[in-house]
Amino acid sequence: MSELLGMEAPLADCPNDSVNEGRLFETELTAAVGLSAPVEPAVHGGSRDQSSGLWGSPVDTAPRQLPDIKPRTPVRALDRGAHAGSRLSFGAHLVLPSVGFSAAFAQRVTGKRDQFSADDVIKLLDQDAFCETFVPRSRVIDYLTQRSEAPRDISELPNPDGYDLRVGHVLDLLLQIPDQSVNCVVTSTPYWGLRMYEDSIQVPWADGEICAYGHEQTPEGFIRHTVEILVALAPKVAVDGSIWWNVMDSFNTRTQIRGNAAEALRAMQGLDNRAWADHAARRYSAGHAYLKDGEQCMIPARIAERASRAGLWVKTMITWAKRATLPEPQNSRVSRNLENVIHLARQRTPKFSRSPYRTAEPRFGGRNHEWESEKLSDVWMLSTSHGRGGHGAQFPMALPGRCIALTTSVGDLVLDPFVGAGTSGVAALHHGCRFIGLDISQTYVSAAKERLSNITATRPADRVSRMR
Ligand SMILES: C[S@@+](CC[C@H](N)C(=O)[O-])C[C@H]1O[C@@H](n2cnc3c(N)ncnc32)[C@H](O)[C@@H]1O
Repeated sequence: MSELLGMEAPLADCPNDSVNEGRLFETELTAAVGLSAPVEPAVHGGSRDQSSGLWGSPVDTAPRQLPDIKPRTPVRALDRGAHAGSRLSFGAHLVLPSVGFSAAFAQRVTGKRDQFSADDVIKLLDQDAFCETFVPRSRVIDYLTQRSEAPRDISELPNPDGYDLRVGHVLDLLLQIPDQSVNCVVTSTPYWGLRMYEDSIQVPWADGEICAYGHEQTPEGFIRHTVEILVALAPKVAVDGSIWWNVMDSFNTRTQIRGNAAEALRAMQGLDNRAWADHAARRYSAGHAYLKDGEQCMIPARIAERASRAGLWVKTMITWAKRATLPEPQNSRVSRNLENVIHLARQRTPKFSRSPYRTAEPRFGGRNHEWESEKLSDVWMLSTSHGRGGHGAQFPMALPGRCIALTTSVGDLVLDPFVGAGTSGVAALHHGCRFIGLDISQTYVSAAKERLSNITATRPADRVSRMR
């Protein structure tokens, strides 16, 4: 059974050339906290406006089923006339990540460095070199206007001695984290269009979409929302800090969206015989501006490129080569065996040491002697940890363990904005770091809390004394 749980599920019920891309950490959670109720997604009562998706009033909190995903690209273009003669002016810290240009390039185009008028922003949007980061071109000026007027949240999360876990939407909670207080961010995000998480909650985004993260109507929506999170995260990270972003690609196919962990588990065991049309939420493939049915979306590479445009350094695009995946029912392409980990930094030379690759325990990120060479390369073949009840977890402890070991010192603060079952927290505490975990799901945070409290209760005295 643990072998099976460590694999990707085949898509026997999928009508097209699609693949089940679910990460299986939920199976561990299912065992740990007995999750099985159907997902009842709600809309988050956050601090942004529902009609525009921008900063404003709270939104509807009624529970509802997540909709089908139909990746139909909207027909929309920038209306230059709407902003002609505007006297608005916007700060560089808002403009540069939204237009995806460095300060030097923006200055070459506009002659300005600190403040930009609406006309300057339109000049930037008209450049051949322009490519959107997290706000579509047609909405950039509206976004800048609303952000300039939004009050800043000044309440701050405590800087924990050991660990701290918070429930909420990542963009709301990030506002409370003091700037430059985090040394290392390590996380694995939801996939696009494959899973409804426990407590899936619809939230408003800067591009105007209101949806649960990972349940966007287009892959572009998911890429934008990811970059919006990265832009909000960046100032929280110390100048020599690192962000490690584990994400897997999706294919533009028709596929079912599984409702909960128990459902995914049943499918893995071959017990779910429903057709695609019988599922509560489904993904379609027609209607995208260019992606054809069955094409790979290239999501990780596109996130990395936009993160670079938004001002971060893309240090490395790492391949996590997974050892255990089930065969996919494909006859037109090779099977996929990898996920990516994007290593991002705020400067060219983040804090970084190779030596833990040689010295750390393999299950906490040290070299996996069975598969990895002496050279720490960009292909990682990690030892898989076994979760509670012997279930294999698809986010092995060694993954966050290695990221943390390579880029922190004892006493540093590690943040996981999608903490799930808390695997990264366990790794952070093991390496003598402090930890903050965020998640929108109370259920997952409770499970993570139980896991981390067991560790702190049993942690050897020498490790406790290494903590600040
Ligand atoms: C892939 S899982 C993380 C798995 C985790 N690395 C582990 O090993 O357990 C993604 C997590 O993101 C959380 N999530 C989804 N949308 C969120 C949001 N808007 N804000 C915060 N957390 C969110 C989900 O509840 C889920 O726990």
